[in-house]
Amino acid sequence: MGRLDGKIAVITGAAGGIGREAALLFSSEGARVCVADVGREAGEKTASECHEAFFFAADVSDPKSVQAMFDETAKRYGQINVIYNNAGIMPPDDDSILVTEPDAWDRVQAVNARGVFLCCKYGIPHLLKAGGGSVINVACSWRSSARRPRRSLTRHPRARYCR
Ligand SMILES: NC(=O)c1ccc[n+]([C@@H]2O[C@H](COP(=O)([O-])OP(=O)(O)OC[C@H]3O[C@@H](n4cnc5c(N)ncnc54)[C@H](O)[C@@H]3O)[C@@H](O)[C@H]2O)c1
Repeated sequence: MGRLDGKIAVITGAAGGIGREAALLFSSEGARVCVADVGREAGEKTASECHEAFFFAADVSDPKSVQAMFDETAKRYGQINVIYNNAGIMPPDDDSILVTEPDAWDRVQAVNARGVFLCCKYGIPHLLKAGGGSVINVACSWRSSARRPRRSLTRHPRARYCR
């Protein structure tokens, strides 16, 4: 008997890193998992190593992609109980504010902040339909605000968005 028996979880950025480990752990505790990521090959590998999971090619910064991710999960498994907003980027050009270009700012905002907003906007209605659930927002606690301005500015909304 697992702690997540019967639960359905959507985990973004689950192809690698922390998201992958979360998918494997949730699966080992009995959850059925949507492994969502922009990286197909690694995502399919993660899903194949779970007990019951499927890979969905989702870009969390794209509203249509996010809606399709939740719709497909609900269609396959009947409901959604957990939204795990893990996808995030830390590109090398997200550097000191003096050298970072606006394009880097936009890319990090699109994934780290807008991505969480979109997953909450389109995912929470599924949780409500299921009678409630959990939203987990992964954030970074680095303090180097001046050196990594966008990452620092996106961590607070991610951490506090669902309070
Ligand atoms: N690694 C750390 O030390 C650390 C510390 C604190 C917080 N975090 C946060 O934890 C989360 C995961 O970190 P990680 O180290 O495992 O990162 P990672 O780079 O190993 O994994 C991130 C995953 O997100 C996916 N991804 C990127 N853009 C995406 C998009 N638009 N849509 C869907 N998926 C996308 C990537 O393909 C990748 O599989 C991030 O949000 C990061 O900010 C990491």
